[in-house]
Amino acid sequence: MNFDGKVVVVTGASSGMGKSCAEMLLNNGAVVCGFDVNEGCVEHANYRHFQGSVVDEEMVETSTEKIVQEFGRVDGLVNAAGVWGNSKPFFDMDTADFQRILNVNTVGAFVMSKYISKIMIPKKNGKIVNISCIRSTIFRGNMADYAASKGAIVSLTSAMALDLAPFNIQVNAVAPGFIYTGMTKASFDNPEIKKQSEELIPCGRVGVPEDIASVVMFLLSDMSNYMTGTNVFADGGYHIQK
Ligand SMILES: NC(=O)c1ccc[n+]([C@@H]2O[C@H](COP(=O)([O-])OP(=O)(O)OC[C@H]3O[C@@H](n4cnc5c(N)ncnc54)[C@H](O)[C@@H]3O)[C@@H](O)[C@H]2O)c1
Repeated sequence: MNFDGKVVVVTGASSGMGKSCAEMLLNNGAVVCGFDVNEGCVEHANYRHFQGSVVDEEMVETSTEKIVQEFGRVDGLVNAAGVWGNSKPFFDMDTADFQRILNVNTVGAFVMSKYISKIMIPKKNGKIVNISCIRSTIFRGNMADYAASKGAIVSLTSAMALDLAPFNIQVNAVAPGFIYTGMTKASFDNPEIKKQSEELIPCGRVGVPEDIASVVMFLLSDMSNYMTGTNVFADGGYHIQK
């Protein structure tokens, strides 16, 4: 895919799917501006790193101003920053802990989309891709915080798509299944958990970040111009047998 001359902002760019998206975009000609609470670890002449939290509105505003000063445009935004939940029943969860998960996973995508869409709107051009999850619609116990944050991402995606449709900006989400990343490494490094997970996936394997980055690339490209407001599952078929 040709992303020559395009500028794409990727959050969560220092690990997992965000890092893979950043690298795939760079390898296909884009300039990438990565945001992460951690230091940048993508090595490329066309990569700029902005360290801080996606819910730190002042940092996001200042950083997006710098991006406009340097590049004058943003063609795409990938909201991949996220955290796993507290892994306990909702009735044992502190409200502050519940709010922290929604804050990073949902409010973070809102804040980033707000500032980046203001750059895209005057150009009447842009793509926003949010990373949701199979846990937006298929649940297990002990994940009320994470599931609520991802269900909200799916709704936010469709609602933002309507607001931005008149400006030729498409907004879609990708719902990954079980992907081997920094978030899940500890689980999938356990052979028992890995085997149990593989048995639930029709394709028979846990995904890798590139499995998701390639779908994100499609949604950032002109090939998806007639798609907006959707949540695309990329889960090796996990959801079709639930
Ligand atoms: N790994 C999976 O199986 C899986 C499945 C479905 C959905 N997801 C979602 O995919 C997205 C990417 O997760 P991943 O699996 O690549 O995890 P990861 O932990 O490898 O990467 C997440 C990145 O987000 C960054 N981050 C966390 N909080 C942040 C904040 N407040 N501001 C800026 N950056 C922040 C982290 O530092 C990290 O670099 C997340 O939204 C996650 O919920 C993951």
